Amino acid sequence: ITLKKSFHGRTLTTVAATGQERFQKPFMPLPPGFKHVPINDIETLKENISRNTCAIMLEPIQGESGINVTSYEFIQGVRKLCDEKGLLLIFDEIQTGLGRTGKLFGYQHYGVEPDILTLAKALGGGVPIGALMAKDFVAEAFEPGDHGSTFGGNPLACAAGLAVMQTILNEGLVENAYKAGSYLSEKLQALKSKYNFISEVRGKGLMIGIELSNGKAKEIKEKCFEKGYLIGNIGIGILRILPPLVVTMQDIDGMAEALDSAFSEI
Ligand SMILES: Cc1ncc(COP(=O)(O)O)c(C=O)c1O
Repeated sequence: ITLKKSFHGRTLTTVAATGQERFQKPFMPLPPGFKHVPINDIETLKENISRNTCAIMLEPIQGESGINVTSYEFIQGVRKLCDEKGLLLIFDEIQTGLGRTGKLFGYQHYGVEPDILTLAKALGGGVPIGALMAKDFVAEAFEPGDHGSTFGGNPLACAAGLAVMQTILNEGLVENAYKAGSYLSEKLQALKSKYNFISEVRGKGLMIGIELSNGKAKEIKEKCFEKGYLIGNIGIGILRILPPLVVTMQDIDGMAEALDSAFSEI
C-alpha cells in the first residue's frame, strides 16, 4: 500500500507504486498489486489492509506532488498498524533524507523507525548512487549475490557517497538546514500575511511548499529565475522551494526579497 500523490520513481515497479496516474500512463501495463490511499487518513489505510498486504511505503513529506507533510499522528498510527499486522514499514527518503528536513532522516521527526529506508539524490552530491537500508530481520532475506546490477557497488559512487556523508556530518549541514529552514519559514509566513493569495506555507527544514490561490505559480517561478533564484512549481498552484543545505541567512534574505518582488509584480 502506498499513498495517493506519492512519487517513488520511474522503474516499472516504483512507477506502479507511485500514486499519480500521469506518471504511470506511458509505462502501462504495470506490475499489479499496489493500492493507493489518501495521506493522513488512517481509517482508509486500515480498510485497505488485506491478508495479502506485505508493506506500507510512504514519503515522510511528499516532494514531487507539492510538499505534502504526513502528520505525526498518522505516522504513529501507521507504525502501530504495521506492528499489529506484521507488515513492513518502508520510508522513501530519497528527497527527505540526508538533512533536507532539518534532521538527518525525515523519520526522526515522527518518533518511529521504518523497517526499510531508501536514499539517493543528495547521497552522491551529484554522482549517481542510491541505497536501500533495512533492519537486520529484513536484510537477512538477501544473501550476497542475490541481487546486483551493472553499476551496482561502484567504488567511485561509493567514495562520493562517503565524502558526502562526512561533509554533511562534519560541516553541520543538518543543523544549518534546521536553522536556515526555520528562518526561511518565518520570512515566508510574513509574506503570507502580506499577500492574501498565499493560502499556505508548509514543510520542514529546507523542504518548503507555498500554496497559491491565484494560479500564478509558473509565472512566479519564472520571475524568481530572472532574479537569480531557482524554485520549482507544481502545476499552477504550488511553489516548491528546496535550497541547498549550505544556504546562508543572507541567501535566504535575498530569496525572500526576490519572492516578495515577484509576488508584488504579479
Ligand atoms: C520520493 C522519491 N522517490 C524516488 C525518486 C526516484 O526517482 P527515479 O526512479 O526517477 O530516479 C524520486 C525522484 O524524484 C523521489 O522524489
